[in-house]
Amino acid sequence: MSYSNIIFPINFYQKVYKLSCSSNFIRVNRNSSYVLRLVFDSIDYLVLEIGFGKGDFLLQYSIDNPGYQIVGIEKSDRLVKEVSKKLERSGVSNVRLIQANAEFAVYFLIPDNSVDELIINFPDPWPKKAHIGRRLVNTNFLKLLNTKMKKGSKIFVSTDVEDYKDFIIDSIRKAANQGLSFRVTNIFMGFWNERYQTKYLKKWLKENKKIFSIEIQRL
Ligand SMILES: C[S@@+](CC[C@H](N)C(=O)[O-])C[C@H]1O[C@@H](n2cnc3c(N)ncnc32)[C@H](O)[C@@H]1O
Repeated sequence: MSYSNIIFPINFYQKVYKLSCSSNFIRVNRNSSYVLRLVFDSIDYLVLEIGFGKGDFLLQYSIDNPGYQIVGIEKSDRLVKEVSKKLERSGVSNVRLIQANAEFAVYFLIPDNSVDELIINFPDPWPKKAHIGRRLVNTNFLKLLNTKMKKGSKIFVSTDVEDYKDFIIDSIRKAANQGLSFRVTNIFMGFWNERYQTKYLKKWLKENKKIFSIEIQRL
């Protein structure tokens, strides 16, 4: 079985990666732009989706936007393989998947000043007070994104947890106080793009949960 659209980070410590589509081993340094150039012929508009889960959004978004280059990052090996098969069956050619923790993948595999759009649909909520430090969208992650995102680019996040929504807004405020260039441009109830469905969106709507969306701009 081939997983031709998956980029496997195979060895964290030596920073050596295997691109399954070329079977080459590639050394990755801080400026890893050539890794993405190798997996896409050219990059016009780079979109990241973090934590794509079952891939419903990723698949439909890539079909709707054939001119975008879309990179999905998901820590679950099982889900990456499942979505890879879905993508191959549907024949889309503008998506690549990275099986890794988002912080790691963004730091090592995404070039500086390259991302046009970042999408995070229902990040793991970590609702317990003791676990709040595990939330993905925090000030440290924003520091990393500050270097990776282009000026004027957008982040879209949806969550069913009101406290997480407030936590993100607070993180943006703290980030701005530390000199990072982010601004919340919209906060509303509902999913950020009504055209799309995800497994968790359907689940929360069925349970009549409130959904919160935040749009953030990299200034
Ligand atoms: C609540 S699910 C949402 C899935 C999907 N976005 C949806 O709306 O149905 C969160 C997803 O994020 C992934 N995830 C959590 N933390 C992650 C991280 N640090 N890096 C990459 N993926 C992560 C999980 O494996 C899971 O698939």
